[in-house]
Amino acid sequence: MIPSTEPATVLVTGGAGFIGSHTCVELLARDYEVVVVDDHSNSSPGAIDQVQKLAGRPLTFYRADLRDRAALDAVFEAHPIDAVIHFAAKKAVGESMRIPLDYFDINIGGTTSLLRSMHAHGVHQLVFSSSCSIYGSSAKVPLAEDDPAAPTNPYARSKWICEQLLADACARYPELAVIALRYFNPVGAHPSGKLGEDPLGLPNNVMPYLMQVAVGRLPELPVFGNDYPTPDGTCVRDYIHVTDVADGHRLAVEHLADEPGLRVFNLGTGTGVSVLELVKAFGEACGRPIPYRIEGRRPGDVARLIADSTRVEREWGWHTTQDLAAMCGDAWRFQKLNPHGYGNLSSSEEL
Ligand code: NAD
Ligand code: WQD
Repeated sequence: MIPSTEPATVLVTGGAGFIGSHTCVELLARDYEVVVVDDHSNSSPGAIDQVQKLAGRPLTFYRADLRDRAALDAVFEAHPIDAVIHFAAKKAVGESMRIPLDYFDINIGGTTSLLRSMHAHGVHQLVFSSSCSIYGSSAKVPLAEDDPAAPTNPYARSKWICEQLLADACARYPELAVIALRYFNPVGAHPSGKLGEDPLGLPNNVMPYLMQVAVGRLPELPVFGNDYPTPDGTCVRDYIHVTDVADGHRLAVEHLADEPGLRVFNLGTGTGVSVLELVKAFGEACGRPIPYRIEGRRPGDVARLIADSTRVEREWGWHTTQDLAAMCGDAWRFQKLNPHGYGNLSSSEEL
């Protein structure tokens, strides 16, 4: 049972997406009522079906764009929302360089639309998806929350602007409690193999690309640069299992009532893994080497991004539970069981 001081109904924007769907499973398992708003611009109805099957409980799903205030207001009117987890956003760095205005419109406009609806309906608790990308090209290792933000692309800037506007909103509305979680590189899948990362189109990120090479949908992984100042020359990242990230959201919801204002936490493992180390670990998980080809550097990439997650460990006792082998093993299980992702699953709209 949930203690009465905790929120019971959570609105999850972007709940059909990669991190949102895993978080919904976690919330349903903890007896929260879950309401999802997602426009499926980067997800499939099948993800919602899988969440409900895994949890053994239904959630309420609305297909809507977050910027549609009337649709959003109708959701707040239909449910006694206690807290919101706001995942819905566009997240591809390269694409954000090509269509920056779309990123500002959806990521910043979506957030202000949500804040307006929350304010209009007396909802004051929000967990916001931020990103390690706001640290930009900082050479510092590891990165802590008080290190300066220096976004280097429109996606990262949209997340940094959202954090800033959330700080301003908290200053104006003292009842507002916001927790921004800056995730590093979430990967992996639900250990059942029924829920995972299924981006629409060619994957932008290394793990879904690796998964599609392993299953034969793509011929080889392009490795973007092997001349970085790192041990093997390829970029180093802090990969974190998506179920550990989902658990961070569950804890954040539980801690929203601790104090008002904006609080910021990194979510990472503190361990750096190079692209070639990841390729090797994934090959071990799927039982055969992954073909790759060294290419030139990808514009905007930085050599190393590693989290200092001391704050969240100290304040909430959060810590990661899954290592790189589990991240690769679970991702591979999902891809093996769903070679075409959620493409062949039924539609939640029929529920
Ligand atoms: P995702 O694309 O899988 O999920 C986002 C979901 O939001 C999708 O289901 C999409 O259909 C939905 N959505 C997008 N725009 C919408 C709109 N205007 N209205 C309603 N729904 C909309 O992405 P994810 O990896 O699950 O990321 C979730 C959040 O975490 C995003 O805010 C992202 O910026 C942030 N984040 C992701 C990562 C990562 O590497 N995956 C790292 C740090 C931060
Ligand atoms: C990881 C490494 C690539 C693809 C992004 C966002 C960040 C956060 C996490 C949202 C890099 C290399 C990649 C490929 C490769 N997301 N790579 N071949 O860029 O660290 O972080 O996702 O907030 O904000 O910037 O993740 O998975 O794209 O790349 O060699 O086909 O893999 O160069 O070194 P990234 P990624």
